[in-house]
Amino acid sequence: MTVQADGAAALREAMVATLREEGHITSEGVAAAMSVVPRHDFAPDEPLEKVYQTDTTLVPKIDANGRQTSVVSASHIQAIQLEQADVRPGMNVLEVGSGGYNAALIAEIVGTSGSVTTVDIDSDVVDRARAGLSRAGYEQVNVVLADAEHGVPQNAPYDRIIVTVGAWDIPPAWLDQLTPTGRIVVPLRFSAITRLISFDRAEGSPTLKASNYRLGSFVPMQGDGAADESLIAVTPDLGLRIDQNSSLTFDVPALRKALNTSPVESWSGTPFDMPDELELYLLTNGPEMPMLHAAQAAVDQDVVNRTVRNGTPALVREGSFAYRVKRENPETVSGYETGVVAHGPDAKQVGNELLTMIQTWAGSYYQRNAASITYHPKTADAASPVGWHTTKRHGVLSVVWP
Ligand SMILES: C[S@@+](CC[C@H](N)C(=O)[O-])C[C@H]1O[C@@H](n2cnc3c(N)ncnc32)[C@H](O)[C@@H]1O
Repeated sequence: MTVQADGAAALREAMVATLREEGHITSEGVAAAMSVVPRHDFAPDEPLEKVYQTDTTLVPKIDANGRQTSVVSASHIQAIQLEQADVRPGMNVLEVGSGGYNAALIAEIVGTSGSVTTVDIDSDVVDRARAGLSRAGYEQVNVVLADAEHGVPQNAPYDRIIVTVGAWDIPPAWLDQLTPTGRIVVPLRFSAITRLISFDRAEGSPTLKASNYRLGSFVPMQGDGAADESLIAVTPDLGLRIDQNSSLTFDVPALRKALNTSPVESWSGTPFDMPDELELYLLTNGPEMPMLHAAQAAVDQDVVNRTVRNGTPALVREGSFAYRVKRENPETVSGYETGVVAHGPDAKQVGNELLTMIQTWAGSYYQRNAASITYHPKTADAASPVGWHTTKRHGVLSVVWP
């Protein structure tokens, strides 16, 4: 073994140990694959230590607008998706979005009796993935240059389709190319958030039911399946993000004025330890809400609380708005408490409305995977889904809190 290979093996073991401790790796199959595939072969110019951290993306490709269009994903996200997919030896798997490393992990798991196809829309990524797979000894992976909106029919049907790019919808080709008992793992975008969802077909029906969902984010889909979210600027450093099919409109000058009013704080008494679950509840219950996003400057200048930095649902009522925040509170199980900050002439009422929603969530749904998520392809049940739902191009996504 060379000194580099030796070092990489030790770092790989440490990475796997961390991913186990963090709960991202839960099966021996995924642990074994991540213990042997040389991640550094897919990012040869990146420092070895960085390659084997669990939360680092590698080899970013940036477009003319400064947006990331491709990365080798962080290993904790790859572990989460592989565990969601429950890939078994002998399976035929399609990976949407390439980089090489994740396809090599899947190839390890399916073994010589299975097969792996990975598809990317970008020829640079396809070339890079092929080179990495060849360096690491996984030439058997089929690397295809295409828009995955149409799937890869030549190697179908697939037991698993693992989507590693932010998708706004589930195109019919993926369902047509999935075996009857197949599973789709997809970072699905709705209400301006993403959830990594593991979908199985409901028995005897084309409807897809989520077995679980997790937090995670990916670069956006390009090509025919691309989505078009809007970010409505309240100030140059603060904006409201809405889904492409949202009908929300805002009185921006009034909201800008509201920012100059003193914030009204209220506290819920509930722990702040599952903000992603609370976020999903707020966005799929009651009034439609945008996601409030702040640039670092808005946080540094105390225009908004720091928890807005990564986005948080905001309840907007004309010229007033409220959003969720946290503060230290040693009396809660997590050491933090969830609260609300509101601005504007009706700050008190809007803040109370949001606080009540938070308390309802805490009282009835304070657990992981509390929501029941279903995707109804347009060809499926003619009946409208019950509860919260959003209409996509090819189907309807519903999120119900039973
Ligand atoms: C996060 S990267 C994939 C990471 C990869 N799975 C890995 O090994 O870490 C997402 C990729 O999706 C690709 N992509 C975006 N839109 C696509 C589309 N419509 N069809 C196929 N690939 C697409 C991008 O070019 C990018 O390389």
